[in-house]
Amino acid sequence: MINNCKAVEIAKNIFWVGAVDWNLRNFHGYETSRGTTYNAYLILDEKVTLIDTAKIDFADEFISRISSVISPEKIDVIISSHVEPDHSGSLKKIAELAPNAEIFTTNPNGLKGLTARYGNLNYKTVKAGDKISVGERSLHFVPTPMLHWPDSMVTYCPEEKILFSNDAFGEHLATSMRFDDENNLDVILAEAKKYYANILMPYGKQAQIALKALGDLEIKMIATGHGVIWRKNISKIIDCYKFWSSDELENRACVVFDSMWHSTEIIAQTITESFAKKNIPAAYYDLKFTPLSDIVTDVFKSKYLIVGSPTINSQMMPTVAKFLSYLKGLQPLKHKGFAFGSFGWSGQSIQFVEDELKEIGVEIIFDKVRLSNVPTIEQLDKLEKEILDLEI
Ligand code: FEO
Repeated sequence: MINNCKAVEIAKNIFWVGAVDWNLRNFHGYETSRGTTYNAYLILDEKVTLIDTAKIDFADEFISRISSVISPEKIDVIISSHVEPDHSGSLKKIAELAPNAEIFTTNPNGLKGLTARYGNLNYKTVKAGDKISVGERSLHFVPTPMLHWPDSMVTYCPEEKILFSNDAFGEHLATSMRFDDENNLDVILAEAKKYYANILMPYGKQAQIALKALGDLEIKMIATGHGVIWRKNISKIIDCYKFWSSDELENRACVVFDSMWHSTEIIAQTITESFAKKNIPAAYYDLKFTPLSDIVTDVFKSKYLIVGSPTINSQMMPTVAKFLSYLKGLQPLKHKGFAFGSFGWSGQSIQFVEDELKEIGVEIIFDKVRLSNVPTIEQLDKLEKEILDLEI
């Protein structure tokens, strides 16, 4: 396919040369309703430097953007911030076009990962505190292990005060405008929170360590690996990361359930409205209708998590099992909650849901709600009163 994509100059002689994936709707299970970008950056200095590449499906677009400012063979330095193929996928292709380029990566994880995927290329390894000069500019490497892979690192250019942050501070958002102030800030922050919840939630401690390491740097631009480049709202996104990586929860509830014949759904309604009556805003998520990634984004900072399922074939509904499994992998914060559901004759699933909530680390604050067949008004009123009386 012919590509006529152009680079975008983001600072004098520094170009965005990434790719926009408008159609992406699923990123290894994370539902990306607004697509994404794979951001890469080209610095024209004495040594022509490329920071990251793009997913292999977008290699032509990425190379087209580079070629719009310089022949790829002139690239001297390639920085690989992260082995995950959305950033390294076109590395081999670009290394073939720029055979003399040195490829900088972390040791041992970056080196191991890149070698496993792309074979022996011209790798140079770096560690915390290392820096290289590329001419008028220097590049300082800050490894950020487990943020979110063992090899991850960010790169700081002090002469430009630009932080090339790769996955950190990014969001899955396809847009034709490269900067935060050219886009809707509410949308960006919502997508950044969703990104943090679905990708970085297990690594709050590592995020805090990284924020500390970056704390002394003067930053006038954060050039991310996905979505927009931050130049106006830098302190806002950093403050968000400080909050998101903390243990602090908001006084909100998420009621998450599936239902077969509306009975568990009716209980979910009563629970949702009872929390609201206690002045605790509650969100109502029927798993048939809302993507897991969105639900998990709301659960992330909600103090209360209440999960319901009827019983099917002696088990909880597969949708509920999938939600709990996904959440468990994200090692959520310390929520409080309980299980609920209606049942026809055996109703084992409600205990299974409670067991799983405990396994995930949820503090059980209310005895599981088990109502047979169709809940009666009296049962629902009693449940409402019990929730209203609950001291939390
Ligand atoms: Fe955007 Fe972890 O890759």
